[in-house]
Amino acid sequence: MAEELIIPAGAGRAMVYEALLPQINALVETESDLTANLANIAAALKEAFSFFWVGFYLVKEGQLVLGPFQGPIACTRIPFHKGVCGASYTRKETIIVPDVEAFPGHIACSSASKSEIVLPVFHRNGTVAMVLDVDSDQMNDFGDADAAGLQQIIALIERKL
Ligand code: SME
Repeated sequence: MAEELIIPAGAGRAMVYEALLPQINALVETESDLTANLANIAAALKEAFSFFWVGFYLVKEGQLVLGPFQGPIACTRIPFHKGVCGASYTRKETIIVPDVEAFPGHIACSSASKSEIVLPVFHRNGTVAMVLDVDSDQMNDFGDADAAGLQQIIALIERKL
């Protein structure tokens, strides 16, 4: 296993995702423990993009429960019908929120968070196992390159669920 990520300097988001994907694949393919893999993915994304907050909320006990993350402390439990995470879980789709203040029901774990993207992670049977939540301290910080890049990273986890 490589001990350091190689992140191309000055590259755009799409290129950084492209460079990250094989490195994250190398990290997770030889490790069977889900927590260890989610922890490394959160760390890799935080390091590569300096996002404000990166983490997973796992479906547990009928709600979304905080899992491995990088960034400031966060809300530990989110009901399925609350917040961007709950909306992504319920709609089973990726949600990009350019301005969190404008999203009805957004849960502000930190007032520094200005925009976010949340992607559902699926079990093989089509139920949602968890969501990946990435927050930025910049408005309108997420777009198609993030949705596509993060989706490819999530697929590495989905095939191990
Ligand atoms: N903002 C999220 C809650 C999680 S924190 O941002 C880490 C939401 O509205 O679901």
